[in-house]
Amino acid sequence: MNILVTGGAGYIGSHTLVTLIEAGHTPIVVDSLHNSSRVSLERVAQITGVQPNFYQLDIRDKAALSEIFSQHAIDAVIHFAGLKAVGESSVKPLLYYQNNLDSTLILLEVMQAHGVKKLVFSSSATVYGSAPIPYTESSPAGQGITNPYGQTKYIIECILRDVAASDDSLEFTALRYFNPIGAHSSGLIGEDPSGIPNNLMPYIAQVAVGVRDTLGVFGDDYDTTDGTGVRDYIHVDDLAEGHVAALTHSKPGFRAINLGSGNGTSVLELVHAFERASGRAIPYTILPRRAGDLPEFYADATIASQALNWHSSRTIDDACRDTWNWQSKNPQGYN
Ligand code: NAD
Ligand code: UFG
Repeated sequence: MNILVTGGAGYIGSHTLVTLIEAGHTPIVVDSLHNSSRVSLERVAQITGVQPNFYQLDIRDKAALSEIFSQHAIDAVIHFAGLKAVGESSVKPLLYYQNNLDSTLILLEVMQAHGVKKLVFSSSATVYGSAPIPYTESSPAGQGITNPYGQTKYIIECILRDVAASDDSLEFTALRYFNPIGAHSSGLIGEDPSGIPNNLMPYIAQVAVGVRDTLGVFGDDYDTTDGTGVRDYIHVDDLAEGHVAALTHSKPGFRAINLGSGNGTSVLELVHAFERASGRAIPYTILPRRAGDLPEFYADATIASQALNWHSSRTIDDACRDTWNWQSKNPQGYN
């Protein structure tokens, strides 16, 4: 299939390009490069031997996006493009609502105009807000979301549900990612955050490689195994395979499906796993809790295995090994 991949130069997008190409699909990448580098696409070509078609474009440019649909017979869309920094979204809410909502509305209009029916959307476990754990797809969504970024994911899911309900030939899947970590086993592509990393794994990796001195651990007084926050970390290549599975098993209507491992790992467990994988000590200090953080969440991953025949197969140790391989070969990311 010809798959339009918005945000395909980014972290999850670039890994998904490799998986799509290896599964015999032809990706057409659209990315503004606002939070990514063209080098990731060169590396995808190095891994796969295929140079993906690439258009540098903000997908809110409707005329230009439409032109790409006219030039390629698009069979389906994977929509990764969006702003994702949780903290920044509270400082610049309009930027987040504008970018994430407008880009999706325009994409849906252009898909409709060109008769493209299949969409896979990057949603997030953040839509569960304050629901009890483990999160299942029938857990209440949209309540207790603590930041505008999370709201955009929830609102986009509502939009997709309404649009799918208006036309029963549409096939929309929202994949609710838990915490993506890891890198391609080649070490050629990986996570390359700009500035100080917001997320745990890239921070640990930068401490290990010597770019940063010490990890700050946000709280050790939660009611969890060791007092630190617990998350469901999922290898980015498992996540990438989940997208191909979502296309393969696409069906009419709107569906939201968890992509997680079903297991919780604490901050300190991840730190120690990374120390084993890298052979480096990760110095850390305990800091106060970070505002908006939940103590613990992880997925019930049953629906993904039933509906998509997908489950995560890579371990935390695999993810630490692959992240270290990427970070040690690319201490400054793609720069
Ligand atoms: P990323 O920032 O690496 O990739 C997103 C890409 O979208 C970037 O390359 C950026 O340049 C591009 N982009 C943003 N706005 C655009 C626009 N208007 N037009 C064109 N391109 C645009 O992020 P990622 O980690 O790969 O995440 C991909 C998607 O998954 C995002 O929607 C994110 O919200 C979602 N998600 C990520 C996580 C995570 O922890 N990484 C968790 C849950 C959901
Ligand atoms: N943490 C630290 N120190 C750091 C960074 C994080 O101790 O420097 C802790 C956090 O307190 C939390 C855990 O590590 O307990 C994971 O934090 P992340 O920032 O890596 O991930 P979050 O679970 O907070 O959020 C991420 C994405 C969200 C997404 C969510 C679920 O940033 O966008 O996963 O997919 F919604």
